[in-house]
Amino acid sequence: MCSVTKGLQRNSFLPYCLPSIGEEEIAEVVATIRAGWLTTGPKVKQFEESFANYVGARHAIAVNSCTAALHVALSALNIGPGNEVIVPTMTFCSTANVVVHLGARPVLVDINDNFHISVESIKKAISPRTRAIIPVHYAGQACDLDEICAFADDAGVPIVEDAAHAAGAEYHDRKIGTHGRAVAFSFYATKNMTTGEGGMITTNDDQLAERMRPLVLHGMNKDAWKRYTEFGSWYYEIFEPGYKYNMMDIQAALGIHQLDRLDAFNGRRQEIAGRYQQAFAEMPELCLPRLLPDRKHVFYHYPLQIAGNRLSIDRAQFIQELSAAKIGASVHFIPVHRHPFYRKEYNYQPSDFPVAERIYAGLLSIPLYPKMSDQDVADVINAVQDIVMRYRS
Ligand SMILES: Cc1ncc(COP(=O)(O)O)c(C=O)c1O
Repeated sequence: MCSVTKGLQRNSFLPYCLPSIGEEEIAEVVATIRAGWLTTGPKVKQFEESFANYVGARHAIAVNSCTAALHVALSALNIGPGNEVIVPTMTFCSTANVVVHLGARPVLVDINDNFHISVESIKKAISPRTRAIIPVHYAGQACDLDEICAFADDAGVPIVEDAAHAAGAEYHDRKIGTHGRAVAFSFYATKNMTTGEGGMITTNDDQLAERMRPLVLHGMNKDAWKRYTEFGSWYYEIFEPGYKYNMMDIQAALGIHQLDRLDAFNGRRQEIAGRYQQAFAEMPELCLPRLLPDRKHVFYHYPLQIAGNRLSIDRAQFIQELSAAKIGASVHFIPVHRHPFYRKEYNYQPSDFPVAERIYAGLLSIPLYPKMSDQDVADVINAVQDIVMRYRS
């Protein structure tokens, strides 16, 4: 870093996020393209098997996004018009959008101070029309799954986990991937592991897997992807109109190697998060993420909350200051109830979500990814501390 008139500034911009793509991934993608089988094929099958083994699930179905994974899982659970699905408001819009796509009603609920949906909020929102609950493992730390699953089981309502941030995360020493009826992962470019765009659905439910697999590819019956191989058949049947959500072999070529490196990636994420926790621990102007017991947090992102009354600037200005220091930042998330569609369509009011509103007011995410050097991490720490010290009120 070098000093400028006001704050600190790096020489070059540190992006909020960058993927870590190694030579193995590049070679596998090139080999896949040279082999000529571009779309769903043997690489996808290999990736599905490896991912199922990794999380300890009986089934893993590769798709082209986590959004697709959530959509297929809810669709296979027969969610449709007249049904309700409980969704925490502190999530990416797609968790709720897919419910709307199916003609059902997303029932948004407030979060607790750990950014999670809780049994208390579910109890307030559940109705005879509730057909699913979607806990979101925010930032890569599992929700209280024992309590949530026990309550949902008693109520006879399936859990579909949004594990977009939670590849490699654990709850009671068990990988995320099998606690709920279905679990949806994201391999978007910024995620803990990536296939560019991509996702995976895991489940231990054989019947559900049998229903979901064809839904991913138009509703074509089993192994339709093989129809252009020597051993495939031209004949297929559609038992229900499915989606075009299949993953390509080019994506799986990346995924196979990213999965091999996932634990190392997450280890580095934890290391960086540890440095942030330590560096900011004594700053009352900042509220840091809490580490909950009995789980492995894989820090997809690092949410900081600035206490507005302790600084003379707000979150937007804080992000501008980071940008002036050549450091990218983001916000996870603009709560779903704040988006115009959800406000207008369902009449959600900010006052219905006091915890999410309070957290959102000061919320920002600072860079955290394995590709960051120790100097990058130090630059982020120095910039955050410098901004806090300059704007202490
Ligand atoms: C909590 C959450 N759910 C779902 C998604 C959607 O993932 P994808 O982009 O793979 O569809 C995201 C994406 O960032 C997310 O953060």
